[in-house]
Amino acid sequence: MFLFKMIKLKELLTVFSKSMDYVDSALSNHHLRVACIADDIAAAYNLSRQERVNIFLASVLHDIGVFSLKEKRELTHYELSSNPHLHAENGYLLIRDFKMFADIAHIIRYHHVPWDNGMGQSFGGVEVPIGAHVIHLADRVEILINKEIEILGQKDAISKAICSKSDSLFMPAMVEAFLEVASRECFWFDVSAPEIDKTIELKGLMSDVELDISELAAISRLYSHIIDFRSRFTAMHSAGVSAVASLLAQLVGFSAVECQMMSIAGNLHDIGKLSVPTEILEKPAKLTVEEFNIMKRHVYQSYRVLGSIENMETINAWASFHHERIDGNGYPFHLLGKDIPIGARIMAVSDVFTAVTEDRPYRKGMSVEEALRLLQGMAAQNALDSEIVSIALSYIGELNDVRTALQSKVVNEYCNLNLNTL
Ligand SMILES: [Fe+2]
Ligand SMILES: [Fe+2]
Ligand SMILES: [Fe+2]
Repeated sequence: MFLFKMIKLKELLTVFSKSMDYVDSALSNHHLRVACIADDIAAAYNLSRQERVNIFLASVLHDIGVFSLKEKRELTHYELSSNPHLHAENGYLLIRDFKMFADIAHIIRYHHVPWDNGMGQSFGGVEVPIGAHVIHLADRVEILINKEIEILGQKDAISKAICSKSDSLFMPAMVEAFLEVASRECFWFDVSAPEIDKTIELKGLMSDVELDISELAAISRLYSHIIDFRSRFTAMHSAGVSAVASLLAQLVGFSAVECQMMSIAGNLHDIGKLSVPTEILEKPAKLTVEEFNIMKRHVYQSYRVLGSIENMETINAWASFHHERIDGNGYPFHLLGKDIPIGARIMAVSDVFTAVTEDRPYRKGMSVEEALRLLQGMAAQNALDSEIVSIALSYIGELNDVRTALQSKVVNEYCNLNLNTL
């Protein structure tokens, strides 16, 4: 019997926002740095504690609507040539229905609105929240920082670049607030510190919020989209695995809470794929040895990401051991069957079933009958747990129904996004 223990929101968002920036070392900790800069500016501008909390939350999530590495890289130019509102709108569309993020959806939606001599007080006829102006400025300050060289020597040039866009790009009063914080060396040391998570913890902006299982489930659903929407070929994968794994766990005899934990583990099992470039995810042919090595790393990365969150031990094991095999020939830990928890064995079956029935860049998805034969073969070879496979085979129609039902729901959400940004 596995019990669910409360998860700290602060820990979860810190770790997840770090993982969004894994894919490119130039972007590492972008979200956390922006959060740190934005909070200092918001404090200097005398915003209330509640506004600072919202700005902080919006900062750690602000670019969740950016899916491709190409677009991420374009955003690292101080003056943007492409339309930045598309990813901001995508971010808004992704989180607007999540109750706990209701206050920050609009901040994310407008985080690239230029001040434009005051015209930027509203956008498309809607008032732009003050937090959006704070994040817009903080985001551009972060982009101007060269992470390779000493920080204090950059202070004057960055301040000058920001001032030159006062009133055109940025709200003048916000630029004043920035100049006030920028005059203190500690601001620059905080922002460039490798242990930025610690600095953020000290700010105590999310210290006491804990998530129950349904709140964690909601955030895991959001993250499944961030993981999957990077490629149209995997756009529904984690959602499908989550649905299949949760039903299969129920058939195996898991309790209702354990099934919910399986659903969360399914949503997060490929979180390490955030560190795999889209070009590899979408390659329309077999991967080279080097590309496959990079791909193999994703489960190790999932294990590390989830492992740094307190009370996620069980969910982590169920999620991150999904490429282990009963005969010990899986990866990356080469665990033997007896050491692979039953939840992870359920996940492995669910992952294979979901993956082979989906279309991929180089092949069409298999029929349920073909998938059935493949699962049987993998159980016979001691790759998958034969008892779990035989339960899955007895209910293959039901498993396929929950997979397609959930995946068609997700397809609708995916189609609502600005896909030309992908
Ligand atoms: Fe952005
Ligand atoms: Fe950004
Ligand atoms: Fe995987």
